[in-house]
Amino acid sequence: MQASTYYVISNMPHTTADSSTQRVRVAVLGAAGGIGQPLSLLLKTQLAQVLGDANASLELALYDVAADALAGVAADLSHVNTPVEVSHHVPSSREDEEALREALTGASVVVIPAGVPRKPGMTRDDLININAGIIKTLAKGIAGACDLEKVFVLVISNPVNSLVPVMVRQLIRHAEAKQAPHAGVERRVFGVTQLDMVRASAFVRSLGELGNEVPSVPVIGGHSGETILPLFGPVQQRLQFSLEQRKKLTHRVQYGGDEIVAAKKGAGSATLSMAYAAYVVAERFTNLVLGNVSEIQETLYVSLYDRENKPIAEGAAELLSNIGETPYFAVPVKISADAGVVRVEHEVWQQLDDYDREHLLPACLEGLRKNIETGETLGSN
Ligand code: NAD
Ligand code: LMR
Repeated sequence: MQASTYYVISNMPHTTADSSTQRVRVAVLGAAGGIGQPLSLLLKTQLAQVLGDANASLELALYDVAADALAGVAADLSHVNTPVEVSHHVPSSREDEEALREALTGASVVVIPAGVPRKPGMTRDDLININAGIIKTLAKGIAGACDLEKVFVLVISNPVNSLVPVMVRQLIRHAEAKQAPHAGVERRVFGVTQLDMVRASAFVRSLGELGNEVPSVPVIGGHSGETILPLFGPVQQRLQFSLEQRKKLTHRVQYGGDEIVAAKKGAGSATLSMAYAAYVVAERFTNLVLGNVSEIQETLYVSLYDRENKPIAEGAAELLSNIGETPYFAVPVKISADAGVVRVEHEVWQQLDDYDREHLLPACLEGLRKNIETGETLGSN
């Protein structure tokens, strides 16, 4: 699939401990929803190509509290003739934790679109209470069923800016309570902000004259309104569009979600474009856990500090000094299967120009800090 900020650092032979088949499980939590359904279809159909000739098999474990909807999705997908196996798991009651445990056991990648979407007139922050409750339940399940030193957790649910800190804190809390190994878990939990890059690229294309080119536009910061910081400077220089056009493009990326919410008139928010964006990210992580590549580079919303309050990886200190020590930020990072984030690609900062620094950055950092504080408070309880 189209890769906007991705490259393979090196091609490695497929690595398995022995000659037996390696089984890789991708779990989708919230699989019966507006995003979950098309995302599951993409995973079922497209991930088969990631397998190639590898001596490996892929399982897709679908989980949702909407029992009938999920059963229908799973039955439907079972008629698709790819080698990706599909299982589905629904709780029998509100107290039933077993189905979630089953879905998560052995998962290497957990993708989370579970949560309530916006309606017109709402902000993403209006979703915090209900969706933080859902994330806490899922965090408990992940901490109970997954190897926190191996699993990757990709949070799609909104508000991403706050829910990622909730997820990180809750995983640590549950792991500590159970005395389960969880070293480096904060390097393995990410907010999915890829849709902002997909939009920035699509909106530049809509200016015309690019033929089949799909331009890559870095988007950093967070995932809501002014916290979204699209770096249009380099592409503006290349394509020579006006400042007026740049302002419009910036606003469209920052408030692109509102366009979809308005168009759907109360029937939810972006689902298809989001499923595409999430698939792009999930495919890269699947390649990584299969050992097809040794590292990936991806723009994700991540913690920049580890548990001892030290910068999370090489390059984090440099970024932190530019963003007034804001503890979470969407930024290109290099990720390895064993260690999670191994490098923060702080060089992206060189792509900010005066417009970004003076007009966009202050509001981005102010908004992010508030959102993170909210998430850290909720995540601590
Ligand atoms: P939806 O309502 O169509 O689907 C959500 C699904 O989650 C439903 O099937 C529901 O049954 C399920 N669910 C609810 N509680 C659950 C739980 N405890 N465990 C498992 N499943 C549960 O919503 P949607 O349109 O798919 O959006 C989902 C979330 O993604 C929303 O919060 C939305 O704001 C967010 N979103 C994020 C981005 C992004 O760029 N990160 C983009 C679009 C939407
Ligand atoms: C988006 O950007 O489309 C999503 O975050 C959904 C929303 O609420 O706008």
